[in-house]
Amino acid sequence: MLLKRLSDCCFAAINNFTWRSLLSTFTYNPFMEKDKLLAKVSEIQWCHSIDLGEGVVTPGLSKTRPLDDQELPAMRGKSVLDIGGWDGLNSFLAEKRGAERVVALDHYAWGVDMLKRNLYWEQCKKNGTFPDYRLDETEFWDPTLPGKAGFDLAKEVLGSKVEAKVGDFMKMPVDEIGAFDVVLFLGVLYHLRDPLGALEKVRSLTKEVAVIETSAVVVPGHEGEFLVRYYPADELDGDFGNYFGPSEEALVAMLKGVGFRNIVTVVGPPAVKAVPFRRSMSKVYRLIVHAYV
Ligand SMILES: C[S@@+](CC[C@H](N)C(=O)[O-])C[C@H]1O[C@@H](n2cnc3c(N)ncnc32)[C@H](O)[C@@H]1O
Repeated sequence: MLLKRLSDCCFAAINNFTWRSLLSTFTYNPFMEKDKLLAKVSEIQWCHSIDLGEGVVTPGLSKTRPLDDQELPAMRGKSVLDIGGWDGLNSFLAEKRGAERVVALDHYAWGVDMLKRNLYWEQCKKNGTFPDYRLDETEFWDPTLPGKAGFDLAKEVLGSKVEAKVGDFMKMPVDEIGAFDVVLFLGVLYHLRDPLGALEKVRSLTKEVAVIETSAVVVPGHEGEFLVRYYPADELDGDFGNYFGPSEEALVAMLKGVGFRNIVTVVGPPAVKAVPFRRSMSKVYRLIVHAYV
């Protein structure tokens, strides 16, 4: 189940080399003994594959490929907010790309007891019921933040200055988070029950540009339409925590609607073909856009 949960970020795993070589230039490593580091790494359930140096790469379950240089705006000297940072791969990359200040913000993946929650989901599936998402913050919430262990270890080993902020960005006041030159909103939008409200919040946290990477849909014969597909249960990657996938047009229009002025699609939909006399099925893909204020 956890595998399925993580596979929601899935993109074909290509282009590992750019980020690996970027991260491997960190030199500080407080765990002088490689064996000790490997033991610590093996105790953690990793989302991201992070090169910690000394030939140690964390065994991340995510199949989503990290964005490459062409898919990211300039970060040198900028402040960067990584919403949904999880193990911090994108935050550490932002730091490596010269960002002056980087904040990794997360909540759900850091504090939810995934084992308990996944058992509950399995039970819901068997019973044919919908899970109550609110249990994440009550029944399944672990205030010791077990899911943050990967971020903490990677930060220490990499000698990184990335700051961690714990909280649901939808509920935190803008003043508490602050505004940033660059906001990374990668793999988060489709997890949110209020996508338009989420984009509005992202706008209020962005001083220059937000990078939005999301699961999206294209429907043959309906290209150019403002479509948003709703996933009532676990239709997307077996994950009850996935709700909406927009078409490129819908995402661009939503971003304009919340006040971004210029939207550039960096990775758009694949070519699809409508088959005559057959009902069009939506094709799911990963969309990347840059939204400028
Ligand atoms: C699919 S993961 C993506 C992780 C990472 N950004 C990446 O692209 O590899 C989604 C992340 O968003 C976080 N997340 C979801 N809703 C959130 C919210 N309301 N506030 C903060 N983080 C959230 C989850 O905890 C999880 O770490």
